[in-house]
Amino acid sequence: MQENTNDFSVPAERDYAETGSLTALIEGVLPALEKFMLFEGVEKTARQKGQWSALLDEPLPKQGVGAQGVMEILRDVVIPNGVRLGHPGFSGWIGTSTTTVPATTTFASLVSGPGYQGIQAYNLLEALALRWLAQLVGIPGSYQGLFTSGGSVANLVGLGAARQYAAERLGIDAAYQGVAALPKPRIYASKEVHHVVMRAAGILGLGRNALYLLPTDKSMCMDVGELSKQLKRDRLAGYTPVAVIANAGTVNTGAIDPLPQLADFCKNEGIWLHVDGAYGLLGVLDPRIAHLYGDLAAADSLVLDPHKWLAAPIGCGAAFVRDSNLLGRAFTLESAAYIEESQPDYQKDEVITSQFDDFGYVYHHFGVEQSAPARGAQVWSILKEVGEEGIRARVYRHNSFARFLAERVQQAPSLELMAPVTLSICCFRYVPPALQEQRDAKTSELLNQLNRAILARVRARGRCIPSATFVNGNYVIRPCFINPRTTLAEVEALAEEVETCGAALWNEVV
Ligand SMILES: Cc1ncc(COP(=O)(O)O)c(C=O)c1O
Repeated sequence: MQENTNDFSVPAERDYAETGSLTALIEGVLPALEKFMLFEGVEKTARQKGQWSALLDEPLPKQGVGAQGVMEILRDVVIPNGVRLGHPGFSGWIGTSTTTVPATTTFASLVSGPGYQGIQAYNLLEALALRWLAQLVGIPGSYQGLFTSGGSVANLVGLGAARQYAAERLGIDAAYQGVAALPKPRIYASKEVHHVVMRAAGILGLGRNALYLLPTDKSMCMDVGELSKQLKRDRLAGYTPVAVIANAGTVNTGAIDPLPQLADFCKNEGIWLHVDGAYGLLGVLDPRIAHLYGDLAAADSLVLDPHKWLAAPIGCGAAFVRDSNLLGRAFTLESAAYIEESQPDYQKDEVITSQFDDFGYVYHHFGVEQSAPARGAQVWSILKEVGEEGIRARVYRHNSFARFLAERVQQAPSLELMAPVTLSICCFRYVPPALQEQRDAKTSELLNQLNRAILARVRARGRCIPSATFVNGNYVIRPCFINPRTTLAEVEALAEEVETCGAALWNEVV
């Protein structure tokens, strides 16, 4: 076709995308969603991948099927083949699906508050939810909060602030000059630290190798004595300490590093203390273990992921940093011609006449996103629905599940507890009676293989869906209870499932 650059006519038709009919379209898929939440038959999804993927995997459509057509595919193919993260027996990784109120709030925010900027309710909820979250766990209100897409980015933000702090002490503005002039930067953490922090160190230009992984004690907590010795060696060798990362709930076993001791240590040494509580910071609400957290105001930066224990929709983390100005220097956006408010000489109108005359609470100077969803509304809705008491009860209940399971494991002749229980994770394995006295390398490998097979069989049976990890080189079944739908029945069932599958599998091999 010949291009006609002089054609200034405007096609008269409306956009192909449906922009209304919300009620009809949603009503069309709601029954499928309600049915999904019964989790009947979803375990077939993996085995039947060929069938549903053939229905979905097609070339880019030239003509669309229209709104109703998409809803039908959603209803009949996509929703029934979703993932059972919300199943009451799901205790894998640190994941769950959201509850009804935040799911609905998220949908509402997509319609009426896409983005939180401007003079609007969702902007206020962003600030309010951060304030409530800080108050819930005992972070001072003066800390700068920020919602992020999850723990990966929240850790990146906290460590970005730590990098800025360490560099500024040497007269370097890391955000502008980079870190080439920062001599041998080093971040200290226990070997149990979550793997996303290595990537964060890489992205920040410190290098993944900047992570110095310290040994842990019997409780899988950082050995502060070793930290002290290593720091002395490193100072003599010219390293720049950038941060100490303390785990407030490791992903493997839920161990909490000695926070009060680390707080004193970092204060005396003048090193930034970053607390990764993506999973476990809420554990401070359990009076049985609150003392392990010490004073959270001693930390320079902290991470707490609402999409874990708060069961916010996936894609919701939070970072808190003591010094708002420093965080701003690390992450601020340059001014942009197309955003009038960002100009250095911008004068706010005295009288605001439109929602767009002001950005409201601005968060894009404190992290790595500019446009972002209204995550605060999700968190606000959770805290508003169940209150502080509802969250406290959930955390207490889930920690009690892990303690209950640990007791059950210790009383069972063929189960072995593999790590101390602190939060809501319980690591254990099946050991057949014939192998109980044997501790050689060959037996360890056999037990690893057996427990891997047990996990697969338990998951395939579908009642309980835990995941696994390694503790001191041993493969262990690792339920993590954060799922609001889980009851004690599923916890009891998990021990039984592991015993039943373990005995059956062992009989198959001997
Ligand atoms: C302690 C800890 N830190 C960080 C992360 C990473 O969080 P996300 O998966 O939300 O990026 C996790 C995830 O499980 C975690 O448990």
